[in-house]
Amino acid sequence: MTPDSFATIANLVKARSGIVLTADKGYMLETRLSGLMKREAIVSLDLLAQKLRDGRSEALLREVVEALTTNESSFFRDGKPFDHLRKILPKLHATRPAGQPIRIWSAACSTGQEAYSCAMILAEMKAQLGNRPFEILGTDLSRDVVTRAREGAFTQFEVQRGLPVQLLVKFFRQEEGKWRISPELRKATRFEERNLLGDHRILGRFDVIFCRNVLIYFDTPTKAQVLGAMASMLTPDGVLYLGGAETVLGITDRLQAIPGERGAYELPQALARAS
Ligand SMILES: C[S@@+](CC[C@H](N)C(=O)[O-])C[C@H]1O[C@@H](n2cnc3c(N)ncnc32)[C@H](O)[C@@H]1O
Repeated sequence: MTPDSFATIANLVKARSGIVLTADKGYMLETRLSGLMKREAIVSLDLLAQKLRDGRSEALLREVVEALTTNESSFFRDGKPFDHLRKILPKLHATRPAGQPIRIWSAACSTGQEAYSCAMILAEMKAQLGNRPFEILGTDLSRDVVTRAREGAFTQFEVQRGLPVQLLVKFFRQEEGKWRISPELRKATRFEERNLLGDHRILGRFDVIFCRNVLIYFDTPTKAQVLGAMASMLTPDGVLYLGGAETVLGITDRLQAIPGERGAYELPQALARAS
């Protein structure tokens, strides 16, 4: 592949998704795009770049971007944020009017494990939270993973990663060789295609936002843009969770780390009071 072809693909992917492909990612383009190139009878990455440059196939560009996303996820991934969520839910409950739903956004939700982990926690704490309703929204750029998240059906391998067996038994049913999340939790959990680079104000405010293991693929200005948007969509006492390799430090001052809680961020107190 020529450097020009690489630059064409990398620039289009960055503009569309925020994902930065560094020059050493040539091998990744080859492995991740080989399936779709074979199907479309595109014999080389140079030819693919040319087709994308022509700008005539929106569907092809979408597929290329989706193929280059990393969709790794698991139930209760990294543990700590979910322990923290269990701890703050009673406080959020105590300060909200009766009947007002607790709203959680799993941004860049991949196949839905993060959103369903939250749903299980809320279902487990139902009595403690006075039967308060909850809404969980999962969003992702990739149509394919959003479809899978909506189905809520997971392989044996997927449920063995991080999901305690008592929660598997309580909230999943075996169906056609997979484990399907209960209709009750599926009903409380909605998934939609959404690009983090877009405008999300229409979604309203959230008490809790998970935006984990996606900012690592972005450059600093894009991280700042996404974090700024998240800050403006948090309730004053809301919490944002980032992945283990992600931080707000040096990127934005619209959020600050919650002392002693790795990966958990809140609005600075002055900002929270003003909003
Ligand atoms: C590694 S997964 C993280 C899943 C989950 N948050 C977790 O931590 O387990 C990253 C996800 O980010 C999504 N993604 C990448 N760029 C995105 C963008 N611009 N907007 C929305 N989602 C994006 C990918 O499609 C992928 O599903």
